[in-house]
Amino acid sequence: MIAEAQRAVLLAASRNDRLRGLVERAPVTRDLVHRFVAGTGDDEALTATADLRGQGLLVTLDRLGEDVRDEADAARTRDAYVGLLGRLSALGLSDDGDVEVSVKLSALGQALGSGGEQVALENARTICEAAALAGTTVTLDMEDHSTVDSTLRVLERLREEWPWVGAVLQAQLRRTEADCRDLAGTGSRVRLCKGAYAPPDAVAFPDPHGTDRSYVRCAKVLLAGDGYPMLATHDPVLLDIAEAVALDVGRADDAWEVQMLLGVRAQEQARLAGLGRRVRTYVPYGDDWYAYLVRRLAERPANLALLLRSLTTTR
Ligand code: FDA
Repeated sequence: MIAEAQRAVLLAASRNDRLRGLVERAPVTRDLVHRFVAGTGDDEALTATADLRGQGLLVTLDRLGEDVRDEADAARTRDAYVGLLGRLSALGLSDDGDVEVSVKLSALGQALGSGGEQVALENARTICEAAALAGTTVTLDMEDHSTVDSTLRVLERLREEWPWVGAVLQAQLRRTEADCRDLAGTGSRVRLCKGAYAPPDAVAFPDPHGTDRSYVRCAKVLLAGDGYPMLATHDPVLLDIAEAVALDVGRADDAWEVQMLLGVRAQEQARLAGLGRRVRTYVPYGDDWYAYLVRRLAERPANLALLLRSLTTTR
């Protein structure tokens, strides 16, 4: 319960501009950021990607940024993705979807008021066109619970033209098992995660065990379905269960993948890849790392001490 309260406080901090300024200026923050974020520019992201590919890992690249406040910022995010995809293609990294991109619709304009969804859809279309040219895929990250319907509507429109566009579903939400059934069809790519936000109990399981049980039910639906499941978790118990279910339903090792974050259980990622398993590392990069970093800290309250130390050394 205390851990849940800490998590809620930290997640609220991810939206606090004053705290953001303090954390961004704190010298010790740099080490913390380096653990979870590949760097600020394309060059650093590409270096990290090449390194991970060398270890046999697949990659999804996320250009950090969310909740853009105007259309010009949304267009800049879109153009940055298009530029990145061009460079991935030129380097041969994106062939066969080995390196793809993850996109937050709120970074493409989704939160810009009544026309925001359409703005995000058009920007996402441009990114999908660039991904198709590069021979790879796009996955739409899932954000706050209030955006799920909008994100799934955009997904549906994009999939009319590019059936490989992937979705993310959050096991912490009560609706997700039903969403998994809707999205378990042929060609569908679904990343299942626990959920990094703090939704109200009315729509979410209030305790971690409820989320874990939901994760197992959802994983069973996806693994038994006709799509391509992407099980995103570092939780060893859930990964063992997923493995057993995949075996039980006769799903081949190359017909689903495990996904983990850069900087979390790196040795395990390399070990699984060494066994020939499909493992994809989520690699965030860019200047706008604050909200992402705070969500990572919220997942592991032990990391809170590191953040507090970094803040006190600024004084
Ligand atoms: P849990 O948090 O229970 O962690 C299990 C174990 O993993 C911990 O005991 C610890 O050992 C290790 N661990 C986990 N997080 C750690 C951390 N930050 N630092 C150190 N160790 C850690 N969420 C979302 O809402 N929308 C999205 O689009 C995505 N996308 C996404 C992609 C990928 C590839 C991953 C792996 C995760 C996401 N998430 C996400 C985040 C996800 O919802 C969730 O918050 C984190 O993955 C942490 O949950 P776990 O399943 O790892 O379990």
